[in-house]
Amino acid sequence: MYAHCRFHTADIRNKKILVTGGAGFIGSNLVEYLLTHGAAFVRVADNLSNGFRRNLEPFMKHDNFEFVEGTITDENFCHRVCEGINLVSHQAALGSVPRSIAFPLATHAANATGFLNMINAARNAGVERFIYASSSSVYGDEPNLPKREERIGRPLSPYAVSKLANELYANVFALNYGMNVIGLRYFNVFGPNQDPNGPYAAAIPLFMDAVIHNKTAFINGDGNQTRDFTYVENAVQANVRAMFCSDANAFGKVYNVAVGENVTINNLFDIIAAAAGSSLKPVHREDRPGDIRDSLADISLAEKFLGYQPQVKLEAGIRTTFEWFKKTFLK
Ligand SMILES: NC(=O)c1ccc[n+]([C@@H]2O[C@H](COP(=O)([O-])OP(=O)(O)OC[C@H]3O[C@@H](n4cnc5c(N)ncnc54)[C@H](O)[C@@H]3O)[C@@H](O)[C@H]2O)c1
Repeated sequence: MYAHCRFHTADIRNKKILVTGGAGFIGSNLVEYLLTHGAAFVRVADNLSNGFRRNLEPFMKHDNFEFVEGTITDENFCHRVCEGINLVSHQAALGSVPRSIAFPLATHAANATGFLNMINAARNAGVERFIYASSSSVYGDEPNLPKREERIGRPLSPYAVSKLANELYANVFALNYGMNVIGLRYFNVFGPNQDPNGPYAAAIPLFMDAVIHNKTAFINGDGNQTRDFTYVENAVQANVRAMFCSDANAFGKVYNVAVGENVTINNLFDIIAAAAGSSLKPVHREDRPGDIRDSLADISLAEKFLGYQPQVKLEAGIRTTFEWFKKTFLK
């Protein structure tokens, strides 16, 4: 899938890269890009709590690939997986706002303590860059659109707190230890390898699952809430550009990673139903606590410092994702 794109401007053939959470959705897409483009070595560290071996299957026999199973809540594991590494892309975390409301301690352990373990291990190992996944949830109750990086409100969930803690720790590691850190605030990423199963699945895989299998599709609230949905290739691009950008001023910042266009959930459902040729009608249910109402990113900071240019818009991303869903789940 990534053979046709080239987001790196430097030679990646001599880089040894650690992707934490690489068995998950975004991480496994990033691994595919890196191996397709000849990275010297890619190591995935993942405890498979929400990731899958099947996402790594295509790489298992690759000479330059290694999978290490373990948890980032274990400090020694983090030191071990950072050994010999040049670049870290830290994706491992427990996603989902509702999960964090149900299990705040588990979210804190993986997302906050796990993050601190990882960035500290990366510092010890002397890695060149530490790129990490933050989230648009850090905007919390900040009402203005589009969201600009410097203007955040109060977090609305334990998940948002954990991601904000990542950003704060990254700042102080840059400040005190001179680490080259870059944070990526993803906005609702979707695409192949995203899991439609389990209680904390995201809207797009759930809607796809519903239209494929003629199940009920639930929309929380009136469906007029908006999101800036981001096809995973764009998130991969942001990671790769952050890993290889040559502007030293890019470090120590956090960037919106989105498309810069939003759509209502009602609209999103119609786009998916149209891609599937389905006449299924969604069922509305209660609003979810902790959710923000509207979301739309200003992506100019990432454009300026990383050279980020999202190339895949919503409809095109939905079509590719739907093909993957059919191939994978319609057996
Ligand atoms: N998908 C989105 O829309 C979105 C939006 C904003 C932020 N993010 C962030 O992006 C990152 C990747 O998200 P994703 O959608 O690919 O999620 P995912 O759940 O598919 O992947 C996360 C991976 O981390 C692993 N993991 C979880 N806890 C771990 C632990 N303690 N030790 C080792 N591995 C662990 C899981 O097994 C999984 O493979 C996460 O940090 C997430 O919070 C995602």
